[in-house]
Amino acid sequence: MPKLFEPLTLRSLTLRNRTVVSPMCQYSCQMGLANDWHLVHLGRFALGGFGLVIVEASAVEAAGRISYGDVGLWTDAQIEPLKRVVDFLHSQGAAAGIQLAHAGRKASAMPPWKPSVTEEEKPRIGYEEWQPVAPSAVPHAEGWKMPHALSVAEIAALVEAFAQSARCAEEAGFDVVELHGAHGYLIDQFLSPLANKRTDEYGGSLEKRMRFALEIVAAVRRVWPQEKPLFMRFSVQDWHPDGWQIADSVELAKRVKALGVDVIDCSSGGFDGARIEAAPLYQTPFAEAVRSGADIATMAVGLIGDPHDAEAVLAEGKADLIALARPALEDPHWPINAMRALDPAGDFYALYPRQAAFAVRALDRALSRE
Ligand SMILES: Cc1cc2nc3c(=O)[nH]c(=O)nc-3n(C[C@H](O)[C@H](O)[C@H](O)COP(=O)(O)O)c2cc1C
Repeated sequence: MPKLFEPLTLRSLTLRNRTVVSPMCQYSCQMGLANDWHLVHLGRFALGGFGLVIVEASAVEAAGRISYGDVGLWTDAQIEPLKRVVDFLHSQGAAAGIQLAHAGRKASAMPPWKPSVTEEEKPRIGYEEWQPVAPSAVPHAEGWKMPHALSVAEIAALVEAFAQSARCAEEAGFDVVELHGAHGYLIDQFLSPLANKRTDEYGGSLEKRMRFALEIVAAVRRVWPQEKPLFMRFSVQDWHPDGWQIADSVELAKRVKALGVDVIDCSSGGFDGARIEAAPLYQTPFAEAVRSGADIATMAVGLIGDPHDAEAVLAEGKADLIALARPALEDPHWPINAMRALDPAGDFYALYPRQAAFAVRALDRALSRE
C-alpha cells in the first residue's frame, strides 16, 4: 500500500490516511458563525477521502479576524455550527481539525475576492472594521492599518483567549487543534524580528520573541485533552535575510514539542519584503529540516498536487502528513484519484461514500476500467 494511504496514529486519534486539507479562509461568515457554505465546502473533502480536514483560520477573538467574514471561535454561539461540520466529517470517516488564529496587525483586511464594499452593502454582508493589535505599533506594509501595541496585560488576555477557544473546539468535537503560528499573523509577528520591536520580556532575543508562542502552547495544552493531538503551523522561514530562519524554527519545534505539540505544519513567508521562490514541493525541505532537527512529526504543504510527489515526500521520510489547499479545491476527490494513480489495484472504492461507491464501480465495469 502506498505510504499516503497508511493510517497514522497521533495520541488516541487514528487518521485513515496521510492526506490533509490545509486550512483555507472562506471569508463567508457573519459574526464569526460558520454556516451552510462551510458544511458543504468542508464536507466535500470528507466525501473525497481525505484523512483530516482542517477548518480555516478561526479567530480566538473578534479583533483577531483577518476579515469581517472569518470563522470565529470566541463565544459559545459559534460552537454549534462548527459541531455540525465536525459531525458530518466524522460520519464520512474523516477527522476534523480547526486552526486557531489571531491575525494581529494583518486583521481587519478585505477578502481577496471582495476588495471593496459599498455603504449600501455593509449591513447586508455584516461588514465590520477595527483597529488591529500587534507586538509593536508598526503596520504590516504601506497602506495597512496602524496597529495598537499590546500591553503585557493584553498579551496575557490573548493567551487565555487561545485556551478558551481550544475549550470551545473540544466542545464542538474537533479531533485536532492547529495553532496558527505562521504567515505573518500575530504569533508569527511576535516570533519574527521583522515585526517584533519590543524591548520588554516579549521582544529582543529569540527566547523573548518565542515567549508568547510558548505561553499559548502551554495554555492550550492545559485545556486541550491529553488524548488529542495538537498541531502548530510555522512559517519555517520568512524568506528575508533579517527575518526568522530555519534554525529558529528547529529550536521552536523542540520547545513546543516539550510542551505537547505533536505535529509541525511547515509553511513559510507572510511578511512584507519576502522573496519567495514558489515551485512544486518548495516548502518540503522545511518539513524535512524540522522533522530531522527537532525529531517531531511534520506536515508538508505547498504545491504538492502530484500524487507521486506526495508519495515520495512520505516514502523518503521528509514528512508524516501531506496537506493540500488549492489542489483540494481543484479536485475534492484528490485522495481517491491519488489512490487510483498510485495503486490501481487498491480498494479506492472504499474511500467513496457508500452512496457513490457501488455506482462508480458499475461505471468502471461498464467502461472496462476495473
Ligand atoms: C483560499 C485559501 C485560503 C487560505 N487560508 C489559510 C488559512 O486560513 N490558514 C492558513 O494557515 N493558510 C491558509 N492558506 C494557505 C494554505 O493553507 C496553504 O498553506 C497554501 O495554499 C499552500 O498550499 P497549496 O499549494 O496546496 O495551495 C490559504 C490558501 C488558500 C488558497
